Amino acid sequence: MSSTPLICPSILASDFARLGEEVAALEAAGADWIHVDVMDGHFVPNLTMGPAIVKALRPHTALPFDVHLMVAPVDPWLEAYREAGADILSVHPESGPHVHRTLGQIRRLGAKAGLVLNPGTPVAALEPVIELVDLVLIMSVNPGFGGQAFIDASLRKIAAVRALLDQAGSEAHLQVDGGVTAANARACVDAGADALVAGTSVFKGGAGAYRASIQALKAA
Ligand code: DX5
Ligand code: ZN
Repeated sequence: MSSTPLICPSILASDFARLGEEVAALEAAGADWIHVDVMDGHFVPNLTMGPAIVKALRPHTALPFDVHLMVAPVDPWLEAYREAGADILSVHPESGPHVHRTLGQIRRLGAKAGLVLNPGTPVAALEPVIELVDLVLIMSVNPGFGGQAFIDASLRKIAAVRALLDQAGSEAHLQVDGGVTAANARACVDAGADALVAGTSVFKGGAGAYRASIQALKAA
């Protein structure tokens, strides 16, 4: 079974000098969510956007902010990103000692809670917290940088997570992040994904091509 996926452009690949215009242009081009990659220079070897940037962007689009926190420890930052305007907060199980508590805290803050599985993190990490997640994010690259190649073994993992979610009767979204292009989008959706993050493949053609790039992913 497959249908049109949600497209979540990662602004990691956008022009940081024009971020407000970029998110508005993505909305106009048909994006569904804005994916915000938060990196702390510690959990991953790169440093990106603090909550002040999310807050500054909030008035520039009505789209949901899908905030991917690559931060450890992550708990001290949840409230700040929520107050800044995050709608979804996704965390890695490795980013704190008590992921069950972290996911519960995200929901208590009124946001949707996402669990992120790195390429080396087993699907089994989902099972004990499956009732607490509104989204599962499968990393199809090792986190830290845009522009990496899609790891093909991720497709097996997407299918395994889809089976677990279906078994549990969960309506959580199943999102894929890293190296997603029009060439592998179909395979991701066929494996069970319903949301695709894309940085390089959305931004590479420039602002004039955002609509076509987003459509290419949806139609793949
Ligand atoms: C990697 C990030 C991804 C990545 C997507 O750590 O989570 O969101 O930037 O970028 P592309 O599509 O270029 O792989
Ligand atoms: Zn991401």
